[in-house]
Amino acid sequence: MRILGINALFHDPAAALVIDGHTVAAAEEERFSRRKHGKRPLPFSAWELPEKAAAWCLAEAGLRPQDLDAVAYSFDPRLARPADTMGLDDPWDHLRLAYAREAPNFLHTALPGLDPEKVRFVPHHMAHAASGALAAPGAETSSVLVLDGRGEATSHLAGRRVGDRIEPLCGQELPHSLGLVYEELTEHLGFLRSSDEYKVMALASYGTPRMLGELRKHVYATGDGGFRAAGVPWAELCSPLRPGEAWTQDHADLAASAQACLEETLLDLVRWLHGRTHDSLLTMAGGVALNCVANSRIAREGPFDRVWVQPASGDAGTALGGALYLAASGGDRTEPLAGADLGRRWSDAELEGRLKTAAVPYERPADVAETVAEALAEDQIVAWFQGRSEYGPRALGHRSLLAHPGRSGNPERLNDVKGREQFRPVAPMVLADRAPEIFDGPMPSPYMLFVHEVAEEWRDRIPAVVHVDGTARIQTVDPVTEPMVARMLGSFERRTGLPVVVNTSLNTAGRPMVDDPRDALECFGSSPVDLLAIGPFVVRRGAFFAGGQPDAAGTAEPLSATDAEGFAAVGSVPSYGTPDGVSARPVRTAPVREPVAGSGAAAAAVAGTGPGLPGAGPDGATGTTGPEGAPGGGADTPGMPR
Ligand SMILES: [Fe+2]
Repeated sequence: MRILGINALFHDPAAALVIDGHTVAAAEEERFSRRKHGKRPLPFSAWELPEKAAAWCLAEAGLRPQDLDAVAYSFDPRLARPADTMGLDDPWDHLRLAYAREAPNFLHTALPGLDPEKVRFVPHHMAHAASGALAAPGAETSSVLVLDGRGEATSHLAGRRVGDRIEPLCGQELPHSLGLVYEELTEHLGFLRSSDEYKVMALASYGTPRMLGELRKHVYATGDGGFRAAGVPWAELCSPLRPGEAWTQDHADLAASAQACLEETLLDLVRWLHGRTHDSLLTMAGGVALNCVANSRIAREGPFDRVWVQPASGDAGTALGGALYLAASGGDRTEPLAGADLGRRWSDAELEGRLKTAAVPYERPADVAETVAEALAEDQIVAWFQGRSEYGPRALGHRSLLAHPGRSGNPERLNDVKGREQFRPVAPMVLADRAPEIFDGPMPSPYMLFVHEVAEEWRDRIPAVVHVDGTARIQTVDPVTEPMVARMLGSFERRTGLPVVVNTSLNTAGRPMVDDPRDALECFGSSPVDLLAIGPFVVRRGAFFAGGQPDAAGTAEPLSATDAEGFAAVGSVPSYGTPDGVSARPVRTAPVREPVAGSGAAAAAVAGTGPGLPGAGPDGATGTTGPEGAPGGGADTPGMPR
């Protein structure tokens, strides 16, 4: 069956396409609209659909709306109740329900040709549960735990996957919600609610949980699979912060207390679930599952042998989960997720075309992984744009900012690039086979959803990635699934002795992660990044701003740093390409670089004349990347309650 999944109602609108149980594509609307999280989670915006993401998913598979067998909409208005009867203070919530009921007709309008009768409402937490239980590799039987801000009338689902069925065991009714409590705290601390919850988690590392006792009166597990979480008197515990105000130790202590209280409650819920199922695998989804500190505690102290967390645990993931749920319900055998790189991609030829259009001087080195490793070893900051973009909030080696982990000042540098708060940590990517000697925690960790203790003897060697509490949120890199990133890491280790590189998301403050080549060039042009590695090409900052210009063959010698400084010194305005279209100095044409070994088409491709570019896959027109342009790098980001 061909099933399109849609998440639209609250936030992080997204679309996913599942064909015969296989996940073909998934993307968040924010990557197209360039509005972070797609929209604010207001009742008035509930009608907005992930139109661009949905259209792209169909185009990626060459389908028309009428070719779909079903559309999964990850909210079932028939299960909802009026907000006031659920104890929620949300006077416009009825708008959400009205919009949800009309979603089939809205989708019919947004996707001309779609039969609205094919739209199915999937219960919100069932969609989250399917995104975990049906996507996790390695087990036909598992337990599943979902926690978020809210669904139709609950904020939680504890259940079990058996074969292709998911059996709910327990669901906590609203207003009790661990996600909403964490959202309240986020707002109390002056951050953006439903967006910045991960900042609270980071701030917690600076505090002590001295208010835990008070919080336990309001947030706790009830021993029957459910919990209480509502009515926390935040202002009595600590004064509120306005946006942008500096936090004090009291605020850090409050964050630490709430984080500890959340972890305790989650552990109780997990133990209850295991007592019912005795499974070895726990899968998790829902915005709360993006709290990697809590996830680690569940993995470390909980009763399950293994914990797998959906990389798109927030509401975006319900697009995929809803589609998987309908696929399994319809008899398709669903396949586990192979990776989070489910978004857009470009062929090498397309990328080169974009660089030429932008009149940006670029090079095509023999191996971009080596070039990047060399730049990182020289303490340059690198923007890494490789393969398909990631589904979910983490950069996982495809849209990343990379830096040297051995320089203690690099978090500050990166936070300056990204315009972020300085208390925010940056994370490491590490070769999977080297990770256990450096980090202690759940392995493998390909999606950056756990934190790990950094071994004492390594803390001074990689200070940039060690958080104030001695932990790091690692991404383990498997050479089989991420060959290009692994090659870059290996090359960096040969040069520095460190099998670790700093990896954070390729974006600037308040903006979604870079998705397409133009986003990458705009990000590179507006922030002090030294090198952009985009597919098999690199753009260097000196050349970028010094007015180097590609020659007819599409290659240009970058001006040296000295040249670039000299150019700036005479007062020219930095620009893309050349000022006013006229080269202010002779542009030196680069010699054609050595072709990639074993690639007969390489020289012609570098010269811009060959039909087949090295690294381009068999289907350049659809953007399939080959061995060179294949998946690379990583990034960080958002928050909990969704
Ligand atoms: Fe949710």
